[in-house]
Amino acid sequence: MANRGSFSSKLGFILAAAGSAVGLGNIWKFPFEVGLGGGAAFVMMYLFFCFILCFPVMVTEVAIGRKTQKNVVGAFNALGYNKWNIIGKLGLLAGVLILSFYNVIAGWAFGYFFEMAQGNFAVADNFGAFTSEIFKVGLYAIIFMAFTAFFVAKGVSGGIEKLAKILMPSLIVMILLLVGYSLTLPNSIEGVKFYLVPNLDAINISTIGGALRQAFFSLSLGMGALITYGSYLSKNDNIVSSSAFITLADVGIAFIAGLMIFPLVAYNNGGDMSLVSSNQAGPALIFITLPGVFETLGGVGAFVGGFFFLLLSFAALTSTVSLLEVPVSYVVDELGYGRKKAVILVAVVIFLIGIPSLLANGYSAFFSTAFTLPGSSDFLSAVALAWLTYCCCSVDS
Ligand code: ALA
Repeated sequence: MANRGSFSSKLGFILAAAGSAVGLGNIWKFPFEVGLGGGAAFVMMYLFFCFILCFPVMVTEVAIGRKTQKNVVGAFNALGYNKWNIIGKLGLLAGVLILSFYNVIAGWAFGYFFEMAQGNFAVADNFGAFTSEIFKVGLYAIIFMAFTAFFVAKGVSGGIEKLAKILMPSLIVMILLLVGYSLTLPNSIEGVKFYLVPNLDAINISTIGGALRQAFFSLSLGMGALITYGSYLSKNDNIVSSSAFITLADVGIAFIAGLMIFPLVAYNNGGDMSLVSSNQAGPALIFITLPGVFETLGGVGAFVGGFFFLLLSFAALTSTVSLLEVPVSYVVDELGYGRKKAVILVAVVIFLIGIPSLLANGYSAFFSTAFTLPGSSDFLSAVALAWLTYCCCSVDS
């Protein structure tokens, strides 16, 4: 078998895996899920799922990868549990499908970086027009996929690990600077209260399902990334302490992202947080509400806005790299392709699979509505819980 590569150190693995976990899920999705889920009540559920349910799953995924030193499907074959091979295949499929839409949103963030840096806040006044400008957002998505492919093609220690070693510390410094700044703005305390004081009445099946989905998504579980990264880890490295660090880093950054965003929103709304659970929630929170805040900051607005969306792009890149590595390692291990050829093939295929997502944000009425089923999220949460229960009950059989 060709040399698969490996992380040069445990720190390299931790930073790359934390980079996989920390992404749009933390900075884009977590705050709006918190907004929809009633603030701190959602945060409590999320923390519960991360530490009680997801942390052991993470240890298991990394352990499966490290023990077998194989891609997400090969790992289950190597363990000899043919019955479980389907989990590897589902992980592979999940990684591919997530990257196909994730790359589109990463492209928006990247595009917003250019728009904000030039002081073009008007882009946020009509977010729908931005996302339906198909050639422009398509180009941003192509550029983002090309960056992702470039770092994956450079290999595990030469590309993925080096990228994480530069971007993760930069991300933490950038996010802390923005938190410090947002906390100095008028009315910011109202945002902090909304975020940290729980409204227990807001806990219902949707909050629970949302927190569960968010915990799995944010920790990059069930999408093959951690089995794949674990397969590049030396057998001497401690999995439990590494996984604990990755979980803490992911939860910590999501938490800090909330501390950065809600004070900005409170400043924008003159301290009234009631709008956050209604029309400011959802994807709009970052792509519509925040640019409005940056605009009001006067001269520093373009700088702060550009800085924010650069941060978001950095966070997304370390995640897209991990998601692309999942199918690439499969194609290299199982089909015998060279890494560069595998990267080009897989990146092009995933970009093509993502075209409906590109069209589904205003450009095509069909794709914009075809896949939205009322209650589908709660249904999927129930299926996920049933599946988890089945897995737990079957472990000994
Ligand atoms: N874990 C990645 C994120 O949160 C997919 O964005």
